[in-house]
Amino acid sequence: MNRLNLKQWEKQDSSLKINLLKNNCGPRIVEIKKVKKETPTVKALTFHDEKCALAKPGQFIMVWIPNIDEIPISIALTNEEDLVTIAVKKVGEATEALHNLTFKDKIGIRGPYGTFFSNYLNDEVIIAAGGVGIAPLMNVIKDLATFKRKAKIIFGAENKRELLFLKEIKKLIFNKPFLNFIPATLDGSYGVKSDVASILEEEIKDFKGQVLTCGPEPMIYKIFKLCIKKGVKLQASLERIMKCGIGVCGSCELAGFRVCKDGPVFNLNLLKLMKKELGFYKRDFSGNLIKLT
Ligand code: FES
Repeated sequence: MNRLNLKQWEKQDSSLKINLLKNNCGPRIVEIKKVKKETPTVKALTFHDEKCALAKPGQFIMVWIPNIDEIPISIALTNEEDLVTIAVKKVGEATEALHNLTFKDKIGIRGPYGTFFSNYLNDEVIIAAGGVGIAPLMNVIKDLATFKRKAKIIFGAENKRELLFLKEIKKLIFNKPFLNFIPATLDGSYGVKSDVASILEEEIKDFKGQVLTCGPEPMIYKIFKLCIKKGVKLQASLERIMKCGIGVCGSCELAGFRVCKDGPVFNLNLLKLMKKELGFYKRDFSGNLIKLT
């Protein structure tokens, strides 16, 4: 927990801060410009920040909520006016506090950090996203639309109400026949009544391009197995508990990799090296290995 107040957080004098300043992604305070309720459990927060606006798709920032905690969140959308949008799913104290923020409230951020989705403009692409996992892939979809690349976008959630950024995706694919959007819901309330991995299994037959994925780890694990079986390239964005976000503390360790620094986006060769833990185990806040539920 990082229960510092605004002044303490800005002044923290530690090796962490030196590291942060070295890579020019150090702490800064930003003001919330817009809050939008995307789904019953997800809010999109928009703020202005030049450094985050330069982030590559898949990179994340550490978001600090005064007196509560600091947590990692993927950058979803950026624009030419340096406006940056993140999607926050309410899952605990810190995310609940972020949900309570309104226009002009302040948060601390540092980053962007980590690896990113790459080379997706050189191949035919299938995006396979589950729930809030669509967030780090939004700027990929934007690039595919801008550069007129052929792609399928499989995006699933439990029900229609949980399909965040649906309006933005429809806007991005409008009048773009080279982009094939396949929405899916488990209850059949919108799109195909199925799950993302099952749809991908059909779409991947005779596919020679690459799959980009983010979402719940059981879904990612199924997709990982599918891509190995079919010999298809894969990039997956993974999630673990993060404290420092810059490869120092080890809290995000996954089979010898530091998700914050070696990831969060990993290619198939690296994912294969994690196969004893990927989809099965994660570390809790004390660093103990526990079974994924
Ligand atoms: S969060 Fe500290 S090493 Fe990754």
